[in-house]
Amino acid sequence: MMAAAAPLRRPESDFLEQARGKLIVALDFDALDEAERCVDVLGDDVTFYKIGLCLQLAGGDQFAKDLLKKRKRVFLDYKYFDIEETMRTAVARAAQLGVSFLTVHGAGGILRGAVAGRGDSSLKILCVTVLTSMDAADIKEMGFDCDVEQLVISRAVKALKAGCDGVIASASEAPAIRQQTSGKLVIVTPGVRPEGSAADDQKRTATPDEAIRAGADYLVVGRPITRAADPKAAARAIIEQMAAALRAR
Ligand code: C5P
Repeated sequence: MMAAAAPLRRPESDFLEQARGKLIVALDFDALDEAERCVDVLGDDVTFYKIGLCLQLAGGDQFAKDLLKKRKRVFLDYKYFDIEETMRTAVARAAQLGVSFLTVHGAGGILRGAVAGRGDSSLKILCVTVLTSMDAADIKEMGFDCDVEQLVISRAVKALKAGCDGVIASASEAPAIRQQTSGKLVIVTPGVRPEGSAADDQKRTATPDEAIRAGADYLVVGRPITRAADPKAAARAIIEQMAAALRAR
């Protein structure tokens, strides 16, 4: 009798490669040269960067082009929120840049304008649900009489209906979003904090392991890497944790 074939095991390097592609480093520096230095230090370990409001007026667009030339992927976290026609025009400009992700927020015509601006480009429109720095008390202060997860889900469902490609949400909401939207949205998770690192201003946090196991497609990590004594070692440790969680998923 022939022995049963051993199940094929994916090599470790596969999981590391997959994890690397899912890590987005938030370059929240207020000066371009600091951001450039960080990209140089991180080298080939990081392939995807987020440019947000800190760099927007410090030459964010040119910096995005420079990153694209270095064959990095770029996420513009500019959180657009405006009337339908302005959204359409502004998002169309972002799509021309060749960046991968752009954040918007709101509902209805705001999102429809963003989706129209994206057109059939490869840009993915991500809708901010509830900032990961907010908890139940914060959304109550904003006038919402529901819990955070309900608001996140309702915004995710609206984003899908409007034609958005994904959402920004914490790890704890990822499973419910996936279920309520039939897995049709890309889930990008900030508020990632490795065991033992400071929460800073984030409230709905998760470790890299928890975020991957919860089903997040991409993890956004800023200060735990950019403010680490050794950013490259910090990024590598996070990628290893993500790879281990992907293997277990
Ligand atoms: O430094 P830290 O890891 O907290 O950075 C998280 C990044 O993700 C920041 O750039 C922040 O603006 C962004 N972000 C977030 N929560 C959201 C959307 C974006 O923390 N819901």
